[in-house]
Amino acid sequence: MTPLAYLLQRGTALIMAPMILVHLAVIIMAVQGGLTGEEILARTRGNALWAGFYATFVLAAAVHAGIGLQTVIREWTGMTTRGAAVTGHLFMLLLIVLGLRAVMGVYGA
Ligand code: HEM
Repeated sequence: MTPLAYLLQRGTALIMAPMILVHLAVIIMAVQGGLTGEEILARTRGNALWAGFYATFVLAAAVHAGIGLQTVIREWTGMTTRGAAVTGHLFMLLLIVLGLRAVMGVYGA
């Protein structure tokens, strides 16, 4: 693992740890405010601050998982470092696209 990948993986873990606590609090509040799709979207649509929070969460998780997966792939499949890097980055890209689309769907205007 390169020093940059090491720093990014530990850094994104540090970013995500407190975000998970906020996310848990949001889940508890959401349960109290009504859990149908309409009720949730009525609260979330057009909220730029929460869109920013969850977009950051998505980016941190995607970078973290994309880097971590490379170690797992190398250990389990014997794939070359380059093959694992390509696969890890493709997975990272997929998580970013799907994750940001989900954030747009829930928090977009
Ligand atoms: C608060 C959330 C999270 C924290 C604090 C966290 C923390 C960590 C830490 C410290 C490591 C390094 C372990 C090591 O190198 O010995 C790690 C590795 C890893 N994490 Fe996370 N993580 C979090 C969320 C996630 C998520 C959401 C995913 C997947 C979507 C994920 C996937 C991985 C993978 C694949 C590795 C590599 C395992 C390995 O090197 O053997 N993590 N995580």
